Amino acid sequence: MSTNTVDNKKKVTTATFAKMKAAGEKIAMVTAYDYTMAQLVDAGGIDAVLIGDSAANVMAGYETTLPITLDQMIYHASCVRRGINRALVVCDMPFGTYQGNPELALASAVRILKESGAEAVKLEGGAEIRESIERILSAGIPVMGHLGLTPQSINKFGTYGVRAKADAEAERLIADALMLQELGCFALVLEKIPADLARKVSEKLAIPTIGIGAGSGTDGQVLVLQDMLGMNQGFAPKFLRRYADLGPVISDAISRYTADVKAVDFPNENEQY
Ligand code: KIV
Repeated sequence: MSTNTVDNKKKVTTATFAKMKAAGEKIAMVTAYDYTMAQLVDAGGIDAVLIGDSAANVMAGYETTLPITLDQMIYHASCVRRGINRALVVCDMPFGTYQGNPELALASAVRILKESGAEAVKLEGGAEIRESIERILSAGIPVMGHLGLTPQSINKFGTYGVRAKADAEAERLIADALMLQELGCFALVLEKIPADLARKVSEKLAIPTIGIGAGSGTDGQVLVLQDMLGMNQGFAPKFLRRYADLGPVISDAISRYTADVKAVDFPNENEQY
């Protein structure tokens, strides 16, 4: 399996995603919500950055993703876009800006691309949002689908547990995945579903799948940045691998700074004018 199909310096586009799928090269995606982190993430060689509506949890401290607004998502996405040179920039469409209303969906997606500079949008759902996806795609806006655990539907499902364990739901998910591909989505997030099902869907589709809590058989992976960097110590689901332990590092730096200020050790003579 190839590890360097794509040019590491060239801007990643939706066409790059297609090439990577065809070549069997895995796609790495993380979330980001601000300029500074976006610059660091891009420098690390990530393929795609998602301005997730998880900003509602991670940035704003809400329990669910439902409260975040279109204006707030556009603000986060524009901050991220200014920090990115290479990665593909995908922005989540927040709850209430696309469901059940194709005209609203198109208007919301157009605002995201125009005002933030994001290059694609992501929507949660299958057959129930078909018309909204069609309308957005008709304007030449690339759409990433999202099936399995769809956190915007938390009030319908009642838990953030693994989805599509039962045959009927798994069959529906496969049908939705094929429909999203048929409509013209360029990629598909599969969240928290059994690994065997995610592998099966990934093998059936010509477009890449990006998994989170969906095993290694997907065409790529996505993690929430603060979770994988250990900045959110209370969140430790089975699927999460921590690549750094920044939470204690940051708190320790703040306590040393606080102690130095109180001891009049900071600033010293070399740190003043
Ligand atoms: O909002 C988000 O961060 C997401 C990812 C978990 C896929 O949708």
